[in-house]
Amino acid sequence: MPYVIYNRNMNALKRFSISIDDTLLDKFEAKITSRGYANRSQAIADLIRKALVNKEWSVLHGEVAGTITLVYNHHHGSIVNRLNASQHRYEKYILANTHVHLDEDNCLEVIVVKGKARKLKEMYNKTVRLKGIKYSDFSMATMGRYLT
Ligand code: NI
Repeated sequence: MPYVIYNRNMNALKRFSISIDDTLLDKFEAKITSRGYANRSQAIADLIRKALVNKEWSVLHGEVAGTITLVYNHHHGSIVNRLNASQHRYEKYILANTHVHLDEDNCLEVIVVKGKARKLKEMYNKTVRLKGIKYSDFSMATMGRYLT
């Protein structure tokens, strides 16, 4: 009977070998060392998960989840009103919103979003075009359905 190893989710671990250009492998090794991976297997599994999440986001009608991070100066024109109006427009895609006052002028806002990839991308693209946004980031996370 074959000896089977399971991961923490009780999925059987499979072993396989790959052939790769040695220069590319050196670069990969340097990268995973700097990121603190314990081994190549973890790093490769992470890359595969990222590719699967990217695939989720490329299916524009599939449901996905993520976060939008914004930093803006609340004194800038009507940014607060425009941001508020924008979020009301996309209200059904917003699960939560956290606003932190960083200092006298700057606000940090994290918006947790869920819905069709096409609508979330549209919302992000419209939001970051608002005048007064100093920084923005869009983290395309996953609903986790296709991951273990
Ligand atoms: Ni604020």
